[in-house]
Amino acid sequence: MITVREIARLRAELANHRRAGRSIGLVPTMGALHDGHVSLIHRALEQTDVVVVSLFVNPAQFNDADDLSSYPRDQTRDAELVARLGVAYLFAPPVAEIYPPGYSTTVRVHGVSEGLEGAQRGIGHFDGVATVVTKLFNIVAPDRAYFGRKDAQQVAVIQRLVRDLDIPVAVEACPTVRDPDGLALSSRNRRLGPAGRARATALSRALASVARAAADGCDRTAALAAGRSELERAGIEAEYLEVVDPATMLPSELDGDERLAVVAAHVGPVRLIDNLPVRRFSPDPHNQVATPIGAPTDR
Ligand code: PAF
Repeated sequence: MITVREIARLRAELANHRRAGRSIGLVPTMGALHDGHVSLIHRALEQTDVVVVSLFVNPAQFNDADDLSSYPRDQTRDAELVARLGVAYLFAPPVAEIYPPGYSTTVRVHGVSEGLEGAQRGIGHFDGVATVVTKLFNIVAPDRAYFGRKDAQQVAVIQRLVRDLDIPVAVEACPTVRDPDGLALSSRNRRLGPAGRARATALSRALASVARAAADGCDRTAALAAGRSELERAGIEAEYLEVVDPATMLPSELDGDERLAVVAAHVGPVRLIDNLPVRRFSPDPHNQVATPIGAPTDR
């Protein structure tokens, strides 16, 4: 594996592969890699010839200086891990390579960026994500790029961005990886103490309660109430617990179509997010067999 820190060098390396007809996969990360990232890398290795993992803690997407400074960093361990997996390039640029002096462009995806995480962390969060991801797409020009569904709103923002700007990349949204107790893997989990770690499992239980209530036919209000009581039992107050349309990330009633239950909450000092697909049970009138008891059958 080759670690590359300059854009020009990475472009030159990848141009050789492209000339040889090899496809390129990109896994964008901010490091502190866990099994969720490993699953993205495995998918990229299966589907493309040359895999680039980018490792860049993007200051533009942090609204809080403390959150940026406390974001876990361990580049040596991350580099060893991706090398073992068979990744060809680790792209780990310094901040000045991505945002050189005089840098003054921002990419904003209106609408889908504005609710949930955008409302809590500020619209600047997804501006930062959209800007750095656009730059990574321009630098690497991948055939496919891999993102985790745990960051569902990020996936929706990037899908909109790619469509709106006609960027020729296939966005692969990959399933959330969970610990056996249901906690969605996140680089932030390593900052939870043992007690926080146990309380944090209430997030996935709350989402499961929403999904169960929906499947039992409850409407949005009742399903969300079921989720909220699960959080209350763990002493957790959600920043948001909502049912949204996965394409727009706007609040939505539950009906027969797939929706997402989404949650964000602080567990001690650590802010966590999670989501789960939900669907309300609604009997399909065309599949109802209304044969009165005792009525003659065809046989
Ligand atoms: O999901 C992340 O780790 C980041 O938001 C990303 C996509 C690497 C952009 O900085």
